[in-house]
Amino acid sequence: MPEHEAGPTGVQETGLGGAELLACLHAEIFPHAERWQAQAFREILAVAGTQGWISLVDGEPTGLLLTRLLPGGEGEILTLGVRPAFRRTGQASSLLQAFLACPAVEAPKTEKIFLEVSVNNRAALALYGQLGFRQAGLRRAYYPDGSDACVMCLEELS
Ligand SMILES: CC(C)(COP(=O)(O)OP(=O)(O)OC[C@H]1O[C@@H](n2cnc3c(N)ncnc32)[C@H](O)[C@@H]1OP(=O)(O)O)[C@@H](O)C(=O)NCCC(=O)NCCS
Repeated sequence: MPEHEAGPTGVQETGLGGAELLACLHAEIFPHAERWQAQAFREILAVAGTQGWISLVDGEPTGLLLTRLLPGGEGEILTLGVRPAFRRTGQASSLLQAFLACPAVEAPKTEKIFLEVSVNNRAALALYGQLGFRQAGLRRAYYPDGSDACVMCLEELS
């Protein structure tokens, strides 16, 4: 990770300028074959309705979240991850709650938020379940390793 100065703790939204940092975090969190380069983040962030989020502890970036709100009241989680050293400290929960509480989710009202997660990813399944996401479908052999994806949906947004 880049050098950092002691700073805020919490979640911040990032625009196109955050693409390098998002790529840096993604590279530390995900296996090499699944990494998204900074250019990929730039292209994704340029799509209307897309937001990038970064969690921080004392100014140090700890995790990332990429979300997209679609016309028609639906949203999706594109990617979420937390650096290993900061897991089980509430970083992912804070990222998701910051997104769910943001004005863009409220107006126009978002009715449903979808995501895909490997059926083998127990940590993520537990996290999403704790936040109220429920299984809405199954995509067979969705991932390169042949594993199935559980499609999850959050419907009761407060
Ligand atoms: C899944 C992931 C994002 C969770 O991030 P995190 O910051 O550790 O999650 P939180 O600390 O907010 O955990 C919230 C809850 O999720 C559940 N949870 C998180 N990690 C868990 C684990 N390893 N095992 C079981 N439950 C887990 C727990 O219910 C936890 O609450 P608790 O700590 O009070 O028991 C993180 O493990 C990660 O980055 N994994 C690699 C990337 C990945 O799989 N991303 C998701 C792709 S869909």
